[in-house]
Amino acid sequence: MVKSNSKKAFDFFFDQEELIETDYLCQERLNSLAYVAEYCSSVVTRIDGDANPLKVIDVGCGTGHLLLGLSNRLQEPVRLYGLDFSDSAIRLSRRLVPSAQLVVASVYEIPHPVGSFDMVTCTETLEHLQRPEEALEEMLRVLKPGGQLIVTVPDGAMDEWDGHVSFWSAAELRHLLLPYGVQHVAPLPLGGDLLARATKHGGCPMPGAKREMPLEVLPPQ
Ligand SMILES: C[S@@+](CC[C@H](N)C(=O)[O-])C[C@H]1O[C@@H](n2cnc3c(N)ncnc32)[C@H](O)[C@@H]1O
Repeated sequence: MVKSNSKKAFDFFFDQEELIETDYLCQERLNSLAYVAEYCSSVVTRIDGDANPLKVIDVGCGTGHLLLGLSNRLQEPVRLYGLDFSDSAIRLSRRLVPSAQLVVASVYEIPHPVGSFDMVTCTETLEHLQRPEEALEEMLRVLKPGGQLIVTVPDGAMDEWDGHVSFWSAAELRHLLLPYGVQHVAPLPLGGDLLARATKHGGCPMPGAKREMPLEVLPPQ
């Protein structure tokens, strides 16, 4: 059912609150999301200088635990946003992080203008998508130039779960993210996941346009 990656499947999944509490939100997942929140807090950079609060969006925010981790860790003024196509996921996120601005929407149509965010996060979601490159284009669109994209996916070298539609090893994830300014790909210490960080360069390529790959994002030889 999850493999279909339909809104209906995820609504059904997130409606089973007891199962979510006891099974999905296991300690390993919570620790992993806490680690990602810590990592994001350590690398996030305000693009516009001190005048404006940081703006961070979590795409495919699920239960909202990454947003909660960010709100607990980010020291400076921040506006947190979350997006998910599942109403049930957004309901859980609202309960957990009432201060965040949360919206039911698709990763392929993020309802924010070009260059809105200092950071875009997307954890454990790309591997469910039929068109991950299109989703990445959309995330890049809403990032400010110089803003950072943080992605986690299961390590495809080990992941065999039938509910996923894409699998990337560390090298393959780096390759996927080359057009988006990848800077760092590494295994997370917990849970067999990979974390990647990319930085948006000057212009925002339009979907489908041929992109020049900046030299500095070429992978090490
Ligand atoms: C495995 S969950 C990960 C949730 C959360 N990011 C985490 O790490 O716990 C994948 C999430 O992506 C959302 N999702 C999947 N496809 C989507 C789409 N096309 N547009 C928006 N959200 C989507 C699902 O509803 C679900 O909340």
